[in-house]
Amino acid sequence: MLSKPPTIKSRLPSCWSIQVSEISIDCDFNSVRYVLAAVRRQLASASIENPLLDAEWIVSHVLGVGRLKLPLLYARELTTVEIERISRLIDRRTSREPLQYVLGNVLFADLDLRVTSSVLIPRPETEEFFERIVAMNECPPDRILDLGTGSGALALGLARAFTGAEVIAVDQSKAALTLAKENAERNGLKGRVRFLLSDWMEQVEGKFDLIVSNPPYLDDDEWLSCDPEIRDFEPKVALVAESGDSAADLMRIVTNAASRLHPGGVLALETGEGHFACLLELASQTGYFNPRGFQDLRGCQRFFFAYWPN
Ligand SMILES: C[S@@+](CC[C@H](N)C(=O)[O-])C[C@H]1O[C@@H](n2cnc3c(N)ncnc32)[C@H](O)[C@@H]1O
Repeated sequence: MLSKPPTIKSRLPSCWSIQVSEISIDCDFNSVRYVLAAVRRQLASASIENPLLDAEWIVSHVLGVGRLKLPLLYARELTTVEIERISRLIDRRTSREPLQYVLGNVLFADLDLRVTSSVLIPRPETEEFFERIVAMNECPPDRILDLGTGSGALALGLARAFTGAEVIAVDQSKAALTLAKENAERNGLKGRVRFLLSDWMEQVEGKFDLIVSNPPYLDDDEWLSCDPEIRDFEPKVALVAESGDSAADLMRIVTNAASRLHPGGVLALETGEGHFACLLELASQTGYFNPRGFQDLRGCQRFFFAYWPN
């Protein structure tokens, strides 16, 4: 005769809420397979967009294994401590905190970056932007400036790609710079990037072969319409442009970078979808040549490049 399954409370912490009616009689309640399914249901009921994917990330994070290895561990029993850790992470995720903050890190161009709510989570579009910059600079730049470095994603990626370059990374947020420095160490790039507290180029000296930036480019209305993950958790200063005008920081950078580029130097900007026309006009008026935009993988005009004449 089959024995009755234990009640969920006898084996799981009280904060762990699971629909008992969904349990099949021969389920092993603490197995990875069972817990994963329960986490997925809990995330789905909080309207998390990819509940299975997030569940896999959370469970594999707590187990300290790669997500793709999880099926190998389906039968493994989780300890109470592991289940409690998973519960705490679920609470954070169901309150709509972004998965990357919940896990504490993100992978970007072969870098493992720690991320907290002091910095914007580097986006896949920014990784695409980074790859485009590297591909377009066949001749390695000697001096690189990253304006608004946040977690350090672009500056550290470029320091790794261009091993001989001097890289300066600027932010106006002290907390972001502290985290970016930690990320330099974490990725074996300590000493390769100089971090500088500055309002864009105000404290920056000298000229550069490459200036890159992914500045804030939303206005207040766009920010208000963002998902709670973005609006309630990511730093507003990283998202909303100066004075609420979405193009303000982009325009300031295009104007000021002109006197900071060596002849033949490149300005590369990640932008909002609607900014291309005004940047093109400003860059042409300012004296840049060959200003052009590129689409991201979704087909949105997101990357702006302009060159300083020789
Ligand atoms: C969109 S985030 C980009 C972060 C990172 N570069 C990335 O791509 O993931 C913009 C960054 O610019 C910084 N920032 C905003 N206004 C600034 C200013 N006036 N001077 C310097 N940095 C600024 C913010 O603190 C934030 O880290």
